[in-house]
Amino acid sequence: MKKYSVVLVGIGLVGTRILQVLRQRNFPVSRIKVLARSARTERIDGVDYEVVPASPEAFDGADFALFAGTEGARGASQLYGWEAAKRGCIVIDNGDDFRMDDRVPLVVPEVNPEALRAHQGLISNPNCSTIQMVVALAPLHRAARIKRVVVTTFQSVSGTGSAAVAELDRQTREVPAGLPPKPEAYPHQIFQNVIPQISSLKDSYPGYYGEEIKMIRETRKILGAPDLAVSATCVRVPVRFGHSEAVNVELERKLTAAEARDILSKAEGVRVLDDPAKSVYPMPLFCEGQDDTFVGRIREDSSRPNTLDLWCVSDNIRKGAATNAIQIAEKMIAMGLVK
Ligand SMILES: NC(=O)c1ccc[n+]([C@@H]2O[C@H](COP(=O)([O-])OP(=O)(O)OC[C@H]3O[C@@H](n4cnc5c(N)ncnc54)[C@H](OP(=O)(O)O)[C@@H]3O)[C@@H](O)[C@H]2O)c1
Repeated sequence: MKKYSVVLVGIGLVGTRILQVLRQRNFPVSRIKVLARSARTERIDGVDYEVVPASPEAFDGADFALFAGTEGARGASQLYGWEAAKRGCIVIDNGDDFRMDDRVPLVVPEVNPEALRAHQGLISNPNCSTIQMVVALAPLHRAARIKRVVVTTFQSVSGTGSAAVAELDRQTREVPAGLPPKPEAYPHQIFQNVIPQISSLKDSYPGYYGEEIKMIRETRKILGAPDLAVSATCVRVPVRFGHSEAVNVELERKLTAAEARDILSKAEGVRVLDDPAKSVYPMPLFCEGQDDTFVGRIREDSSRPNTLDLWCVSDNIRKGAATNAIQIAEKMIAMGLVK
């Protein structure tokens, strides 16, 4: 079996999980190089990785470059993403920098793998909350065409990176002891709180915060439905790992709850946990460390025809980032898109 040379950029929460998932899935790696801002050795699951500062030359000769650096002008993707593609790597980027770029496929392998065929060297991994929602929605869209989606998210602090997990852990110890919360990752204390703000306001969608706009625009791009009606409210909750979402989905034709449950239970990447009488439904505590999108509370919306309510949960660092990126690489190999 052919093996592939991989460069990983960034070794925070997502980069660390990428190294673990590559091993767990037996991805055929011939060589792995880890880049970050500073040089050091990182030990992950008993394996030492030599970390070197990122540079354009570091991408020469690699097959895949998996980017898990921070976003923005000083982040790795903007500094090195297209440069790595120019040097012959297939770049799979976890950040937001290029997701809506017309040159860039935005791919969830269970949903729109065909978009990979038009790649120009750089592929974007969607936002974590978008990925799990479209994994749950795409099978319903195929069966009965979605007209409108209204989603409310309950997003864990790991979605903000390793510093935010440390902040929740610190506040959990210090605030009950009477110490000040000292919020840095968020505008308010997150311990014992719920914050209806993820990212910042943007002029393009008045009143919506950035994460909500990502969910709207990315869902349309991935489902190939540019006019799909989508609205989102994204909320940060004091959970370490795993995002939860309450989704209201209006379809062009009626699906009963039983039909939707049947469709979703056969869908790739979905696991249905739906026995409300026994209090069986997905919860982040039990989805951590797994790769599926868990769906439950599937019911017909009593207030509106052809409309379903459902609840979905997934590990935001695995399916929401690391696993989806590696599945893209696996799919490209399987589709013969890698030299
Ligand atoms: N957390 C999630 O749920 C999630 C989900 C989907 C997508 N993402 C995206 O994935 C990316 C990584 O997120 P994270 O949570 O892993 O962040 P993180 O824990 O803050 O780690 C960021 C890593 O990027 C490295 N880095 C930053 N700027 C760099 C540069 N210019 N050159 C090289 N390396 C650079 C840092 O290097 P040093 O260690 O040397 O400082 C660090 O290792 C972000 O774009 C994020 O938006 C995150």
